[in-house]
Amino acid sequence: MIGLIQHTLLVLLEREGGTSLRERILADCGLPVDSRFAIHKDFADIECSALITAAAARMDIDEETLWGLYADYFLEEAHQLLPRFFEMAPTARDFLLRQPTIHCTFGAGLRDAEARSQVRDKFHITEDGDDLVVRYRSNLQLCKLYRALAERVLALYGETGEIQEEMCRHHGHEACVFRIRFHGHGCDIAVAHD
Ligand code: HEM
Repeated sequence: MIGLIQHTLLVLLEREGGTSLRERILADCGLPVDSRFAIHKDFADIECSALITAAAARMDIDEETLWGLYADYFLEEAHQLLPRFFEMAPTARDFLLRQPTIHCTFGAGLRDAEARSQVRDKFHITEDGDDLVVRYRSNLQLCKLYRALAERVLALYGETGEIQEEMCRHHGHEACVFRIRFHGHGCDIAVAHD
């Protein structure tokens, strides 16, 4: 997988517990303490899994809490650094519908065709009336990350909605499937558009 999650996780760890926490977690995974994850390269899924497990263990938090911290930080950064993606999507629904395309934009830079198709094939979204039905299938099984990010996308747009996981690989299903229902704007509209 592309190094973005690993990179973001390491920046987050440094923010939460300084260089020593970042280095300890890399060492727990048997990785060099000066490891860097480029966001235009492909890395082994197993390294990412090891980082997630070690980070949650060292910080003494569960995976849900870790992804909550991650999603808060990641979306704030992405909103500042990649504003076009948000400007192109006037609503949370538009943004979530575009998310697999955003991933493919990053995947397109990978040299290896197999790695590119893996990025492309992880997400498939269909529109069911106003609902979005998201099928996510990946060796990493990061459906808790999906939920944390989708919740924060709703919040960023000042909208509310329901995110229901109808199928989950952790429960033996062949893929994770989310149904997202949008209730529209709450009181605050956090994303400004021209
Ligand atoms: C500007 C916003 C975003 C950018 C730039 C971005 C970029 C990326 C990239 C480059 C990856 C690694 C992809 C791979 O190697 O397959 C990734 C992974 C992931 N992203 Fe995003 N993403 C964004 C928003 C979102 C949102 C809003 C969600 C969910 C609602 C999401 C869910 C995920 C998940 C679940 C993974 C892990 C995929 C796996 O299993 O490998 N992303 N993201």
